[in-house]
This record gives sequence, structure tokens and C-alpha cells, in this order.
Amino acid sequence: QDHLISATQLSRPDIEAVLDRAAEIDADPSALQGRHDGAILGLCFFEPSTRTRMSFDTAMKRLGGRTIDMGSVESSSVKKGETLADTMRVLEGYADALVLRHPSEGSAKMATEFVDVPLVNAGDGAGQHPTQTLLDLYTMRQNAGLDDVTVGIMGDLKYGRTVHSLAAALTNFDTRQHFISPESLRLPRGVRYDLHESGAQVREHTALEEVLSELDILYVTRIQRERFPDENEYLKVAGEYQISAEDLEAAKDSLTVMHPLPRVDEIAPDVDQTEHATYFEQAHNGVPVRMALLDMLLSTEGDR
Ligand code: CP
Repeated sequence: QDHLISATQLSRPDIEAVLDRAAEIDADPSALQGRHDGAILGLCFFEPSTRTRMSFDTAMKRLGGRTIDMGSVESSSVKKGETLADTMRVLEGYADALVLRHPSEGSAKMATEFVDVPLVNAGDGAGQHPTQTLLDLYTMRQNAGLDDVTVGIMGDLKYGRTVHSLAAALTNFDTRQHFISPESLRLPRGVRYDLHESGAQVREHTALEEVLSELDILYVTRIQRERFPDENEYLKVAGEYQISAEDLEAAKDSLTVMHPLPRVDEIAPDVDQTEHATYFEQAHNGVPVRMALLDMLLSTEGDR
């Protein structure tokens, strides 16, 4: 069965196939209308979500399908102590594909042991968020290209799953990656090791000013407060990495500023009015990209 669990699964041709299909959908939104009439997508979110949940919902409905939603942990039988394994065993009988977000790293991979329908990881703790990466790459390709570009990734590199997925996927392209964070929120050892093994061009910084003027893309992330075992450790780094329109005066005019959202205080509202701001366009790209992915996962070999 096809599952999407980690961006490390994705080769350059895999990524380009999804992005090209998404571009076709963007050019003609009715292209895939009704293609998956009657199909059902199960949304299983054990953690809060706005963009991922609602763009998967929209994507499935635009393909002619329907969605069923487990609801929140509080309103489901998870509250009564049902395990993830049993929840997955049940929901795979209700749906043609499943989307899972869960606070535990490795949960999506584990869940694939219990399902015979395609399963998409919509975020497993501080692990991976591969569909966010696909829409990030789509946005980068539209705004700056994916080859011969310099990308800065700033903020919570330790707990940020969007960062872990994006860093892995970018190794398929000719990019220079600069990681900007406090010492305590550097990339996890495993992610660093994989980057090193891939031969990626990577540098680490503690100050954005060291590299800002070189960047074509600046990908800002939220400090993941909910993942810190000790609130005091969060308070030490909270608010350390913030950008304003004034800060960006030192950047290239063509700099693309991205953020997976939600933001807290990392990007000041005055950046929204600049030509750099791309994060709302990025969030909207979640629909065509997830339509493209769902179409591929739900189509039989002969239909593709
Ligand atoms: N970017 C992202 O995953 O947003 P949500 O948490 O709102 O789904």
C-alpha cells in the first residue's frame, strides 16, 4: 500500500510529479472535478490543526469525495482510553484513505501496521510533516525556483517537524541551506546526520544578520512551546527570533518569506504588507497540492 510518512521517502521525480499535477489543478481547478466521486477520506487529528485538516477536507471535496472526521481527542473514544492501533483498525474500515496527526514521533509509521488503505502523516510529534513540505516546495518553485537557491530556515529547528521534512526534501535539489536558531534549538542529530550523508551544502548560525543578504528564501518557524518538557526552557528562547519589515531592508528585494503557520510573534504584522510575504499564498497552496497527492494515492495504477 502507498503511504506517505516521511519526506525522506520522496525522490526528486516523486516531488516533481506531485508539484506538476498541482500546477495543472491550479491552472484548471475543474480538471479533477468528480474524479473521486464517492471516495471517503478519514481525518484523524489527535492534535490541533487549522490548515492541514481544512485543506485536506477541501481537497477531498474538490475531487468529488467526502470526508469523515474523528473530531477532537476530547470528543472521541480516545478519551475513554482507546489505543491508536485500535482506532486505526476501525477507521480503515470506514474510509478509502486516512490522514493522521498525532503528538508521538513515529506514530504514523506505527499506524501503517494496522491499515490497508493509504495513510498520510499530517504531523507526528517533532518528527515529520511531509505534505507541508510538498506545499512548501510548490511555493518555493513558484517564487524562487528549487535549484541554485539559498534557503534560510530559522526558529525551532529541534522540535519543528516542518523543518525536518523540508531539510530532507531540499537535498533532492541544488540548494544551499542555512539553519538559524538558538544553540538549544539546533537540528536533531539524526536530521543533521542525514543532511551530511546526502552531501547537502549546510551551514548553521545563531544570528539572521550573518546570512540574510544572501538568502533567496527565508523560512521562519514558530518555537514549538507544546513540545518543551520544561516551560522554563521555552521561556529562555521565546521571542528571540522575530523579523520586522525594517529588518528585511537588508535582504534582497526578491527575498521570499515563508512560514508554515500558525505564527505567534516571529513575523511582525508589518511584514504582511511587503512584497516578501508569501505565507498566506503558501497556506492556500495546500489545497491543489493535497488534491494532487490524494488523486495519486486514490487512483489505481491504470488511472494515473
Ligand atoms: N502548517 C500547519 O500544519 O498548520 P496547522 O497546524 O494549522 O495544520
